[in-house]
Amino acid sequence: MSYNCAVILAGGEGTRMHSKKPKVMAELLFKPMIDHVLSAAIKAGVSEVCVVTGYQAQILEAHLEGRAHTVRQTQRLGTGHAVMQAAEYLRNHSFDNVLILNGDAPFMDSDTITQALAYHENRGFVQTVISAKIEDPYGYGRIVRDFNGDFCAIVEEASADKETKKINEINSGAMWFQKDALLYLLSKITNDNSKGEYYLTDTVGIAVSEKMRVGAYTAKNADAVLGANTRVQLAQLNERLRQKILSRLMLEGVSIPCTDGVIIDDDAVIGPDTVILPGTIIKEGCEIGENCEIGPNTVLFKTKVGNDCVLNQVQAEQAVVGDCCNLGPFAHLRPNTVLGAHVHCGNFTEIKNSSLGDHTSVSHLTYVGDSDVGRGVNFGCGVVTVNFNGKTKNRCTICDDAFIGCNTNLIAPVRIGNRAYTAAGSTITEDVPDDALAIARDRQIIKAGWVIKKKPYREKKY
Ligand code: UD1
Ligand code: CA
Repeated sequence: MSYNCAVILAGGEGTRMHSKKPKVMAELLFKPMIDHVLSAAIKAGVSEVCVVTGYQAQILEAHLEGRAHTVRQTQRLGTGHAVMQAAEYLRNHSFDNVLILNGDAPFMDSDTITQALAYHENRGFVQTVISAKIEDPYGYGRIVRDFNGDFCAIVEEASADKETKKINEINSGAMWFQKDALLYLLSKITNDNSKGEYYLTDTVGIAVSEKMRVGAYTAKNADAVLGANTRVQLAQLNERLRQKILSRLMLEGVSIPCTDGVIIDDDAVIGPDTVILPGTIIKEGCEIGENCEIGPNTVLFKTKVGNDCVLNQVQAEQAVVGDCCNLGPFAHLRPNTVLGAHVHCGNFTEIKNSSLGDHTSVSHLTYVGDSDVGRGVNFGCGVVTVNFNGKTKNRCTICDDAFIGCNTNLIAPVRIGNRAYTAAGSTITEDVPDDALAIARDRQIIKAGWVIKKKPYREKKY
């Protein structure tokens, strides 16, 4: 196998996005466009990635830290000039081939890249451009072929005559080069055109004139070339990608009876017979089992859900949910929450940095934070684990089959023993032994006739 590198061009400002961030940081389904391009390159098996940054370079460099090498283009003088910034990096490595990718074309996929590489290597081309046939070629560089049908040049929109503009095979911007040929061709391009830019696309004409062998690989997936210059186009790409992912999931056995407001990250793993209801957003890093009902209006991030669960109006981030759990309506699982099987977290409950054992039930208006909760525990309505004293956070331990009465405050650190009860309205500050009842509130006093004697109310007008 060959040793290859990808150079991703990402220096542009993307004026029409009206953003303070580089264009490639515009998000497609919660991930910057550059991340989609980077993933495609890595999935296609390149060994190294070098990103050319320019506009707001420091934002992109910070974003890519540890994931890609970066070089800066201090002036935007065209795509050819952008690749020149990586020349030294390329000279210092013994790559066989270099893949050039546009950072603003997030639909380029790894299959198209690998198929183009096979085409490039099998035919011994020095340069293979990935092309696509599209209905409206306006704005793209056109693939020009000679009378034999051999690829001989790319002509940019600005330089194209009437006949050339009719060509609907276009340059995707992605291309493979033999490394040495790329370095040679870069040294030959000039900025002698109407825009005064160094066009990378001029390398084709130069190679042909020097009898070097070039080719155009036509992508089977014409969507691979799609890019976005405005946020309107970005919304169109979002919609296309969203529908593509939803269709894949449906074909794999997930039911989405109404796709309104359903947005699911491409990396989601969802088991068959699970139903996703409207308004549900499943962000990166989620795994959901079989036969669940998720939604409506549920948002999950880096969360794992077992089989046979119901999550109705739930927000969960970095949480793990066991099998047969019933969550919501209106439950919030915050980071580092681990629920066993058959757990119920009902109306207006919040769980944070806590584990709850099997069959534990937290039905209403309760906060469980920094707690280790056993199995079969019942929380009454309005329980609060008081885990923060203004300075430090402390943990509560609540053992198996304990029963926490309504409106109990558990002042951490405190341990509630196995099968222990707390009386409703108690503020528990000390450990409760196994099998004990703790009552921590004042006894009730009755003052007979007090209202008649004191008349504490105003005269009623009705
Ligand atoms: C480019 C191609 C065109 C192709 C199209 C596909 C050239 C001259 N034209 O046109 O043939 O059909 O892509 O989308 O290559 N960039 C830099 N520095 C620069 C200029 C650009 O880093 O000085 C980066 C941009 O950030 C972008 C990429 O290169 O990610 C492409 O540049 P862009 O200006 O968008 O080129 P297009 O006009 O789309
Ligand atoms: Ca572009």
